[in-house]
Amino acid sequence: MVAENGQSAEQAQPIKQRKNGLYRGVSDELAANMRGGWADTERSDPAPIEQAPNAARRRAALSARFPGERLVIPAGNLKTRSNDTEYAFRAASEYAYLTGDLTQDGVLVLEPVADGHDAVLYLLPRSDRENGEFWLDGHGELWVGRRAGLAEGEQLYGLPCLDVRKAAEELAGTDGAVRIVRGHDTGLEAALGARLDAERDEELRVFLADERLVKDEFEIRQLQAAVDSTVRGFEDVVRVLDRAEATSERYLEGTFFLRARVEGNDIGYGSICASGPHATTLHWVRNDGPVRNGDLLLLDAGVETHTLYTADVTRTLPISGTFTAFQRRIYDAVLAAQDAGIAAVRPGAKFRDFHDAAQRVLAEHLVAWGLVEGPVERVLELGLQRRWTLHGTGHMLGLDVHDCAVARTEAYVDGALEPGMCLTVEPGLYFQADDLTVPEEYRGVGVRIEDDILVTEDGNRNLSAELPRGVDEIESWMARLRS
Ligand code: GLY
Ligand code: MN
Ligand code: MN
Repeated sequence: MVAENGQSAEQAQPIKQRKNGLYRGVSDELAANMRGGWADTERSDPAPIEQAPNAARRRAALSARFPGERLVIPAGNLKTRSNDTEYAFRAASEYAYLTGDLTQDGVLVLEPVADGHDAVLYLLPRSDRENGEFWLDGHGELWVGRRAGLAEGEQLYGLPCLDVRKAAEELAGTDGAVRIVRGHDTGLEAALGARLDAERDEELRVFLADERLVKDEFEIRQLQAAVDSTVRGFEDVVRVLDRAEATSERYLEGTFFLRARVEGNDIGYGSICASGPHATTLHWVRNDGPVRNGDLLLLDAGVETHTLYTADVTRTLPISGTFTAFQRRIYDAVLAAQDAGIAAVRPGAKFRDFHDAAQRVLAEHLVAWGLVEGPVERVLELGLQRRWTLHGTGHMLGLDVHDCAVARTEAYVDGALEPGMCLTVEPGLYFQADDLTVPEEYRGVGVRIEDDILVTEDGNRNLSAELPRGVDEIESWMARLRS
């Protein structure tokens, strides 16, 4: 479909660029006809979104950190896929965190005032029926669906709302210190031009990442909901393993995606549906390989909720339903490493502790199997286990799968764990198919186990504990689902 009348690429351009041609090919009679005869679809008094008070607290913390400065946090814009077709939109995490709004083109501005900041939300208003944009513009509500608009936005988000189409001009007309979260809205960045400074903007981004390290109760509920949907998605995958055997890994990807779209907003990252030797490729997202009875399936997938919080869970499952003795041996080593890692997650522990604990267990097994010469201390000191452990043992989880990635080193990777932090614990062992340093039976075997762990006041809680981890539990769970 393309926009009515003219049906050209020109018609599909944003209205600003084609304003003068708006009525091309439209008779005066049709234009007049389309102006009227529509019911009022304004909603009166919509309830505020649940996280409105949480977002207000976050804005207050941001305001306190940057007194006297104008702060600009954009949601981002649509990205063209081809011609007038766009990629699915996902709001920038910083914007979602500070507003709870998830719609395209929005901009949160914190205007400095004597005692802090006034927050203003710039949004796309309802489509104008008088000038025809609602049906002649490819982004009009007739094409893309009703939007909240300004009056409703004020109710939903608890913020004064203005027309975003004036935001760039209004910001350009201000003076004084200003910072923007970069990388989401090139139009706004251009409007602020030389007033922006990369280092100062980075301070804003880093501050927000630091703030997001500790989750509030709303966020923890969302993460638990993301994990719960993910658990159901894993069950869906197990139920269709037979059909995947007849097709490919894509069947599993599609099956999990169905759960993500029905219960959530999307998947939180590209699902890794890695069967057989593909399990040794860390970011195997092509998912176009065969699913063979007798191999292991490494499934790393997460549902993203409607509020954009994501799970990140991995299970390595025997496609036949039963681990071979060799698969069980590798699996149990990774499980022991994960147990040691999870046990090291508690308030006051260093972020690095759970990684070190898991790596030690993996190194012990690699030495015991004769794959690397001991002693274990030497292996760890030289990092020799890393040929097969490959990656860090976990990361923060939240609005982004690799959450808070730009947080200060001293607050994150060199920091200590605090209640409310949520992280993955995900050790693995990967023996590449062409690794000539290991006996043949190891080659092409990859195992990762990944759970989402909340730091609590007195230890931790495994948000994904519903999914079995032990080999016996996995086998009986799979048998139950497939019976
Ligand atoms: N799914 C990406 C990761 O586990 O970090
Ligand atoms: Mn992960
Ligand atoms: Mn993962």
